[in-house]
Amino acid sequence: MNIAIVGTGYVGLVTGTCLADFGNHVICVDIDEKKVEMMREGHVPIYEPGLEEVFLRNIKANRIEFTTNIKDALDVCDVVFLALPTPPGEDGSADLSYVIGVANQIGELMTSYKVIVNKSTVPVGTADKVHEVIASKTTIKFDVVSNPEFLREGYAVQDFMKPSRVVVGTSSQKALDMMNRIYKPLTEAGIPVIAMDEKSSELTKYAANSFLATKITFMNEVANFCELVGADVDKVRLGMGSDDRIGNRFLFPGIGYGGSCFPKDVKALVKSGKQENYQFKVLEAVEEVNQTQKVILVPAIKEYLGGSLQGKKIAMWGLAFKENTDDIREASSLDMIEELTNQGASVIAYDSAAMPNVKRAIGDKIEYGDDMYEILNDADVLLVVTEWSEFRNPKYEVIAEKLKNKAIFDGRNLYDLEVLEEKGFFYKSIGRKT
Ligand code: UGA
Repeated sequence: MNIAIVGTGYVGLVTGTCLADFGNHVICVDIDEKKVEMMREGHVPIYEPGLEEVFLRNIKANRIEFTTNIKDALDVCDVVFLALPTPPGEDGSADLSYVIGVANQIGELMTSYKVIVNKSTVPVGTADKVHEVIASKTTIKFDVVSNPEFLREGYAVQDFMKPSRVVVGTSSQKALDMMNRIYKPLTEAGIPVIAMDEKSSELTKYAANSFLATKITFMNEVANFCELVGADVDKVRLGMGSDDRIGNRFLFPGIGYGGSCFPKDVKALVKSGKQENYQFKVLEAVEEVNQTQKVILVPAIKEYLGGSLQGKKIAMWGLAFKENTDDIREASSLDMIEELTNQGASVIAYDSAAMPNVKRAIGDKIEYGDDMYEILNDADVLLVVTEWSEFRNPKYEVIAEKLKNKAIFDGRNLYDLEVLEEKGFFYKSIGRKT
C-alpha cells in the first residue's frame, strides 16, 4: 500500500518507519526542510532507542521517502496519516490549527478517494471537523478515521509492533477495510483491532491516558500516606497489584508523571468536560496532586540540611521526564530546579541524553557535568530524578566519598533500603521507610 504520513514528529516518524517495515511504501511529509534533508541522508531526528535500525533498513529497501511537498504524497497515496502537533492552548484545550491547516490543503490538492487517518491526540469531534473542512474544498469522496496512538517514548518501536490493541474509529466500511489491511501483520499476530465510531475512538485515547495518570497519582497519594503511618508502599503495591482487576503495572510511586502526553491530555479532558458543562472532579484532583508531588522531595532535603537551602549544592542524577528519552517536557526535574534555586540552592546535573534540551530551556541556571560521579564533588546531597539504568547500581563508596553528606533523596525508589542502611546512608525515597 502507498501511505502518506504528514508530520514527522515523534508519532509520525515511528508510524511511518514501522508501516514501511510492514512492507508498505511510505512517503513522509514535513514542512521543515532541514529535517527532511536530514532524514533523506539517513539521520533520525529524534532520540528513540531502536528506531534508527528499522529506519535505515527501510531507507535501504526504498520503502520510505521524505518530502516537503504534500502534493507529491497525495498524488500516489490512498491513505494519509495525520501525525501533527496538537499543543495545549492558553486555556489547556488542544490547539487544532495544524490539523485543520493540513485538512484544508488535502481538500484543495486531492484528486482521488483518500482515507484521512488522524493519529494525533485530538478532542472528541475532531474527525467531524476535519471531514467538514475537507468537504468544503472538494467534491471527491473521502473518509476520515480516528486511529489514536498508544506508544510510549523510549519503547515506541516495540509498542508500535506489539501493541495491546489497535483502535480504529470510522463509520465507513471501506475505510475500515483499508485500515484492517494496513494492520494485518498485527492481527495475524493476535493483536485485536477494535473498531468503533470516531468519537468513541477519540475519547478512548484521552480516557486511557487520564486513567493511567490517575493510577499513578493514586499510588503517589498512597505512598505519601504510607510514610505517615509507617507502611511500605512497595509491599502495598505488590499486595494491591496482584489483583488482576487492578494490575501491577503503572503503580510505581515517584515524583509525579510528566512528559508530553499525560499532563496535556488530563488538562485537555478537564477542559473538554467544562465545554460540556461537565466537571471532571477526579482529574482536577489528579492535576493538583501531581503538581505537589513533583517537588515533594524539596522540603525533605531542606529539613535534612537544617531548615535552609541557602548556599547548598544539590547534585541531580537525571533530567529527562523518564528513562530512555531526552524529553524534558513537564519533567519534575524542571520544577525541582525552580524550587531549589528559588530557595537559594545551586544545582549540578548529569543526564546522558537530556542535558542539551535542558541547556536550551534554562541555560546556565544550573551547572552540568559529563560524569555522574564527578558532579558529586562538593555537593551537599544527591537527588535522583530519572530512573536511567546507569543509576540503578551505583558505586556507593564513590558517592559516600564525594558527597559532603552521605544522603540520597530518590524520587524513583531505585535503591534497596537495607543496602543503603547497611552502608550508612541517610536515604529518603517515596512511600518507604527513611
Ligand atoms: C504515555 C502513555 O503511556 C502512552 O500509552 C501514550 O501513547 C503516550 O503517553 C502518548 O499519549 O503519546 P509516555 O508519555 O511516553 O507515554 O510515558 P509513560 O511511560 O507512560 O510515562 C509517563 C509518566 O508517568 C512518566 O513521567 C513516568 O515516570 C510516570 N510513571 C509511569 C510513574 O510515575 N509511575 C509509573 O508506574 C509509570
